[in-house]
Amino acid sequence: MAKIDKAIKISQKNLLGIQDLSIKDINVILDEAKTFISLNKSKNKKLDILRGKTQINLFFEPSTRTQSSFELAGKRLGADVMSMNITNSAIKKGETLVDTAMTLNAMHPDIIVIRHQDSGACNLLSQKVNCAVLNAGDGRREHPTQALLDALTIIDRKKKIQGLRIAICGDILHSRVARSNIYLLNMLGAEVNIIAPTNLMPKDIDRLGVNVFSDMKKGLKDCDIVMMLRLQNERMSSSFLSSNREYYEYYGLTPDKLNFAKEDALIMHPGPMNRGIEIDTKLADDINKSVIKEQVELGVAVRMACLKIFCE
Ligand code: CP
Repeated sequence: MAKIDKAIKISQKNLLGIQDLSIKDINVILDEAKTFISLNKSKNKKLDILRGKTQINLFFEPSTRTQSSFELAGKRLGADVMSMNITNSAIKKGETLVDTAMTLNAMHPDIIVIRHQDSGACNLLSQKVNCAVLNAGDGRREHPTQALLDALTIIDRKKKIQGLRIAICGDILHSRVARSNIYLLNMLGAEVNIIAPTNLMPKDIDRLGVNVFSDMKKGLKDCDIVMMLRLQNERMSSSFLSSNREYYEYYGLTPDKLNFAKEDALIMHPGPMNRGIEIDTKLADDINKSVIKEQVELGVAVRMACLKIFCE
């Protein structure tokens, strides 16, 4: 039976955010993820690295990509995976996150994966349980495994991140994906251009070490990567947009705007996409430019690496 490689050392017990990681930690996770890419394409995908380990997935917000890839990742590594049905749990009877955490902790899980609508919920949970906690997205704060899989996708295609000019465009204000990517891409030496209408730009953007644009064509100039973001209508308490049509005209990725980026620029999107609002549907599906499907594919490898590394 394969054993967890204790030589893989990481500075943190939990994966709560990119901000907590060192450059060495990030490279350890990315290097480990690379080892799973070919396995995930093979006929026999099952390993027993996490045999005997229990993984609990706690998703308080909807998810397709993150939840299914964490579940597949755990199963492919041989863990016993339990995805809690939140809508049918005692949370619906008013049980708090802390009581839920302490209840699950009593069952001795080895790792908990949590997505929650409140920024910092995963940090709170991590203080109440003995096992490692992986953040699968908390409020507007961080989505570390998304940034890691985005980095792996860029490295897979461009062979590096250092020195690339990377545009992140759209609803930056509500985006934990943007925040985690800004931290990670800056750490790995990219130049990051942030493009958004002023009312979807975070107030603290000037402190994040990025170039700030409200004109999409200027922000896309000579970029190697164009990362589009979803408009997060569920996090908007008031109307941020005059119309979807106007948003598409100024901030939707269209062939004419993409022409301002480098000729070999790649298009990314964390999903789910609002086609025809933040991205032209043909561009999203253009296999010569879009790596959106590859992001999903490499997400499984990244989550396998995270489970292996953080599941002691
Ligand atoms: N990118 C992402 O987090 O997608 P899901 O909401 O489908 O998990």
